[in-house]
Order: sequence, then C-alpha cells, then structure tokens
Amino acid sequence: MKRYSKRMVIIHWLTLALVIVAWYLGDELDEARHEKGATLIGYFAHAMVGGSVLLLTILRSTFRSVDGTPPPVGQSLMDMVAKGIHHVLYMLLIVLPITGMIIIMTSSVGMALLAGDASLLPTEYTGPGIVPHAVHEILVTVLIVVVVVHILGAIKHQFIMKDGLMERMSLRRKG
Ligand code: HEM
Ligand code: HEM
Repeated sequence: MKRYSKRMVIIHWLTLALVIVAWYLGDELDEARHEKGATLIGYFAHAMVGGSVLLLTILRSTFRSVDGTPPPVGQSLMDMVAKGIHHVLYMLLIVLPITGMIIIMTSSVGMALLAGDASLLPTEYTGPGIVPHAVHEILVTVLIVVVVVHILGAIKHQFIMKDGLMERMSLRRKG
C-alpha cells in the first residue's frame, strides 16, 4: 500500500475543516460570554462540531488499524519527529474535545443546556469549571502550534523535497 485508504483521507480533510469551524465557534463563544451575549445554541453548535471531531478520530483509529498505513517515508530524525507529531495530533484530537465536555459537566453550562435557560450560562468560570476551561484553552493553542509544524512539514515535502508525500493523503490517484 502506497497511500492512506480513501476513508482515512476523507476523515483527514474533514477533520481539518471541522477543527477550523470548532476553533472559530469556540472563539466566538468566548467573546460573546465576555460581552454577556452568549447563547445556548452557540454552546450547542460548538459542542456538536467539537464532538464530531472526537467521534471521527475514534472512527479513524479503527480504520487505521484495519486499513494500515503507507510504509514510513524514511528513518531520519525528521521522519521520526513527523511520526511523533502525528501521534501528538491524534492525542490532542481526543483530549481536547474531552476537556470541552468536562467544562460543560463541571460548570453551569451543563445546567443551562439541560434547563434550556440561557440566564444560567456563566459570565466567568469559577469553581471546578476553571481547570478544564484553562486546560481546553491551552490545548487549543498547543493544537494550533502542532498543526502549523505539521503543515510546514507537508510544505517542505511538497516544494523542497518534491517527493510526492502529499499524494499519500490525496484522493487523486495518479497513474
Ligand atoms: C477540536 C475540538 C475543539 C476545538 C478546536 C475547540 C476550540 C475552542 C476554543 C478556541 C474555545 C475558546 C477558548 C477560550 O479562549 O476561552 C473553546 C471554548 C469552549 N469549548 Fe471548545 N473546542 C473543541 C471541542 C469542544 C467540545 C467537544 C466541547 C463540549 C462538548 C467544547 C466546549 C467548550 C466550552 C464549554 C468552551 C467555553 C466557552 C466559554 O464559555 O468561554 N469544546 N473551544
Ligand atoms: C493544510 C493542512 C494539512 C496538510 C497539508 C496535511 C498533510 C498531511 C500529509 C501529507 C500527511 C501524510 C504524511 C505521511 O504520509 O507520512 C498527513 C498525515 C496526518 N495528518 Fe495532516 N495535513 C494537514 C492538516 C492536518 C490537521 C489539521 C490535522 C489534525 C488536527 C492533521 C493530522 C494528521 C495526522 C494525525 C496524520 C497521520 C496520519 C496517520 O498516519 O494515521 N493534519 N497530513
């Protein structure tokens, strides 16, 4: 096998799109909360998009073990680093949404959603909700940094090494 399976490729790019949407919605939510204008639908939409990332990642790891992966690109230190980065990305795609769920369970957001009452939404995180909220925020920053490094690696392969690595994560089948 020279490339990732079709379903692995589809989930890779779908995850990219969903992470961008979740990030945007999360940022909007934070801003709205500070302006005391956060809505239940805002929390619900963010949780649904972020939750889909978690479900897709679980599905993806099942597909990964069934379909396998292309052989390692090489054995250099940079290849090992790239592999390590993939593992960190998988870990973040699981832990980040889980911390989001913990925010909901440990703050008044959960109660507001259950009661359908936006007036119960927090304006500040206090009590047990502080920790998961801070961790969620930190993990978002870590995810952004790691994804940027990952993209720089892909750019290096595509434009400097010109070794066709992008083909492995593409639905276009040349030849
Ligand atoms: C890939 C997945 C996710 C990404 C990229 C993401 C991103 C973000 C971002 C950027 C924020 C704003 C952070 C801040 O500055 O305070 C945020 C906040 C939040 N997220 Fe997520 N999130 C994800 C998944 C989830 C999930 C699955 C849930 C819940 C089921 C969730 C619940 C929350 C909550 C409750 C907040 C706090 C909003 C507020 O009141 O300030 N997130 N998220
Ligand atoms: C423009 C954005 C992106 C580009 C160009 C890109 C490109 C690639 C390429 C070419 C590979 C295959 C590497 C190989 O065969 O060794 C790959 C793998 C991977 N990418 Fe991305 N990627 C992008 C965004 C993302 C994002 C946002 C995430 C997650 C948040 C991500 C997570 C992964 C993971 C976990 C793998 C390893 C797949 C596996 O071995 O199971 N990528 N990416």
